[in-house]
Amino acid sequence: MKTLGFLLCCAALTSGDLYITNPRGSNNRLNWFTRDVRNNKRLFDSQNNNRGGYNVGDPMYYYEGSTLSIEWANQHSCADQNANCELILQYMCDDKIRDGATSFSIVDNQDLNPGFGMHEEWNHYLYCRTRQRNKGLFLADQNLRFNDARFTRQNNGGTKSGYECPEERDYYPYWYHSPWKDIVVMTNNVERCDYYQKESNNVKSRWGCVVDRNKLNRFYRWPLFIIPDNKEDCENFEIFRQPVSANWTEFPAHDIPPPKCIKAPWSRDNHNGNGIGGNFNTYDWVIPEGIAHEKCVLRMRYNISTNDYDSWNTDASSNTDSDTDGSKIDLSKTFKLPNKETAEARGYVFKNNPDVQMFPGLDVKLTLAINTAQFGRTFQDRSHVFEIRQRPTELKDVTIHNLNVRGKRGNNQQVYPAVEYDYVPNTLEINTNDYVHVQWTGSDRNPHNNAGNGRRGTDRNNMVMLKNKVYPEGTPGLAYGGLDVLGQYGANYPMHLDNVTRLIGASTETRAVLQKMALLAPPRYGGHMFLLDNAKAYYDLGPLQFAKEGVFHYMCTRNNAFTNRSQKGRIIVRDASKK
Ligand SMILES: *[C@@H]1O[C@H](CO)[C@@H](O)[C@H](O)[C@H]1NC(C)=O
Ligand SMILES: *[C@@H]1O[C@H](CO)[C@@H](O)[C@H](O)[C@H]1NC(C)=O
Ligand SMILES: *[C@@H]1O[C@H](CO)[C@@H](O)[C@H](O)[C@H]1NC(C)=O
Ligand SMILES: *[C@@H]1O[C@H](CO)[C@@H](O)[C@H](O)[C@H]1NC(C)=O
Repeated sequence: MKTLGFLLCCAALTSGDLYITNPRGSNNRLNWFTRDVRNNKRLFDSQNNNRGGYNVGDPMYYYEGSTLSIEWANQHSCADQNANCELILQYMCDDKIRDGATSFSIVDNQDLNPGFGMHEEWNHYLYCRTRQRNKGLFLADQNLRFNDARFTRQNNGGTKSGYECPEERDYYPYWYHSPWKDIVVMTNNVERCDYYQKESNNVKSRWGCVVDRNKLNRFYRWPLFIIPDNKEDCENFEIFRQPVSANWTEFPAHDIPPPKCIKAPWSRDNHNGNGIGGNFNTYDWVIPEGIAHEKCVLRMRYNISTNDYDSWNTDASSNTDSDTDGSKIDLSKTFKLPNKETAEARGYVFKNNPDVQMFPGLDVKLTLAINTAQFGRTFQDRSHVFEIRQRPTELKDVTIHNLNVRGKRGNNQQVYPAVEYDYVPNTLEINTNDYVHVQWTGSDRNPHNNAGNGRRGTDRNNMVMLKNKVYPEGTPGLAYGGLDVLGQYGANYPMHLDNVTRLIGASTETRAVLQKMALLAPPRYGGHMFLLDNAKAYYDLGPLQFAKEGVFHYMCTRNNAFTNRSQKGRIIVRDASKK
């Protein structure tokens, strides 16, 4: 049974991935119109399939204090018996952050070159590539070429991706200062929450060795220039027997509340991260007050580790053993074999592709697909640049929910592992008088042969109220508790105006809003609006208040196609005072 578990685990691991679907995750894309990512090392190391991700669109903005439904797919399950799993959400805002204008990766020392996309700054990478890597980490049987923090078990060749630091990427909480601010840690083991919250860089400072900048700039390419990882060696740092001015320095905490820490939502392996009920999992991020900034980016990591050994408590002392050519981990305990020697003799060794002898006395072995660089592996995705905006005074004290569109043009086979269009959240439940900030973005540079309506390669959306019931209301869980129900998912025609206004009031204002959502403001009736080609991929309706109770079903006229694709959403408005 255990071996079977092993096999399932590894086969899936090589195809494990993480894709943020809302806000649109880039998976390192900029705007190249091919199916594959042009350069998967542009900004960060995702470890994802090259076909994932969304091209950049006009930047979105979200109000401080508003709720943003972050939606993602993690391919290798979480909160499931198949793996230990953490999902870590972080953000960072900085004037220098940019999507860039080229698909090439940023080269050394280009903080201010707008051509290259950049998240972390040069200094982050410069120190990473010169700092002593953590020698206490478990490497299994991986050989790392050099001794700086670019080299890890998962990145043994020291590959560079943007200005991301591989050691920081692979480990969390990280022991040096990081520009990323923690939002939430979702884990299968909430017993670690206390640890995460105490150790987070949000609340706890870090120390590091700051060295003379001239020396650093001069020598950073030398593999032997290794900045020490402790106070004593830092203060006595020298290169070629020449002392180098260096100070053991405290980097203050971000000084914001600790991250939330919750049990990760369950998902199933190999099903593009489907959660319970067939929906992608989401986390509702209430964007903190007081952090407004024009240039922000969201980062999500997905860390999975095996339970075939105690991955959280295994360190460098279990690294390669020359006798077995594999790590020193004793698998006899996990597999209930009499002792380590027997386990090793039968191939139960943690190393790459071991051959195991399952049947004693029968000299036949089976090879397991184990890659020690990936048993314990971190995937990642990040958003494009977005803005966090202060609320205008008239919206100071109201509740704002963001309502967005995910996905990209094409059928499911063409876009996979990205997704087809949908509204996010697909069902938005709010209280009366709450505001819904309707906004979406997209690209005009999707692959030209991807299926869809309207001009080739373009993303367009709109929202129109769906026609009333055409099928009997048979779906379980659709009891709306006596609310007026407008439209039905079963329908594929919009409701005409008379019927809409009958339910939500017939003011000219209502008509104006409905018209804007359908025709996109400012409407340009002269052009080809049938398929919204004359509109832009980006649209912002601004926050819209829902004053009356009711259930509103809506769709997109351009993308919704009965036999091909469905793009429909629902807003449920309840009177909180009646509860
Ligand atoms: C991933 O899990 C390993 C334990 O297997 C841990 O050492 C590491 O810090 C984790 N990394 C992240 C990014 O959560
Ligand atoms: C280290 O600290 C000393 C004393 O404050 C200062 O003179 C020196 O410039 C510092 N060196 C670096 C590399 O920051
Ligand atoms: C429109 O409203 C009328 C009565 O007000 C109703 O009979 C009819 O079914 C509605 N039509 C649709 C498409 O909802
Ligand atoms: C579905 O897509 C195909 C190919 O893109 C197209 O020919 C067909 O008309 C579409 N059907 C509908 C109902 O939109």
